[in-house]
Amino acid sequence: MTKLFCAFLEPVVTLQLASPTSAAWIDQAIRHFDLVLLDHANCEKKAAGNALSLLFRYPANGQLVEALSPLAREELQHFERVHRHLQRLGILLRPLPAAPYASRLNQHLRRHEPEHLLDALLVAAIIEARSHERLGLLGIHLPDPELRQFYLWLAAAEERHWQLYLDLALAQFPADQVQERLDTLLQVEAEILSTLHPEPRVHS
Ligand SMILES: [Fe+2]
Ligand SMILES: [Fe+2]
Repeated sequence: MTKLFCAFLEPVVTLQLASPTSAAWIDQAIRHFDLVLLDHANCEKKAAGNALSLLFRYPANGQLVEALSPLAREELQHFERVHRHLQRLGILLRPLPAAPYASRLNQHLRRHEPEHLLDALLVAAIIEARSHERLGLLGIHLPDPELRQFYLWLAAAEERHWQLYLDLALAQFPADQVQERLDTLLQVEAEILSTLHPEPRVHS
């Protein structure tokens, strides 16, 4: 199981995915990599959009603005790199119905502040941590060496991103509150992924 740590402030808060990705997902993703790559392009756009939506929702939060504006740009650069691979492989970018993963996670965002902000940062951290894990698996298992190298590079970036979101949460909320809510949301995330979504996706 992937064990992930973040130590922005004492005490140390741990982000450990509650379930490792199954061999069934790896098999599905490799066999239908064209669909996963298309979905991945959409995921990078959504990651940029999520960072931007937080900037709109919390315009006076200087820490968020300073961290998330560059993050949104970086996610769009990831999108551009994925798009280049789509073009190289002759796959036309098109809309693709998303897996229910993110929408089901977002159902657990509390509506009132400041809890909504905490949940939004932690859900974003968890999505980035799962992306880090799964893109890393593609970087190991894909047959194309160029794609393997690309996905290992991307996985390292997504690792920085979950750390960034967790650091933002720890900068604004007590560590024990962060850890308690994080553990709850990690269990929710593992439950969502407990059955393989029939459509091949990054988060199926
Ligand atoms: Fe990304
Ligand atoms: Fe990311």
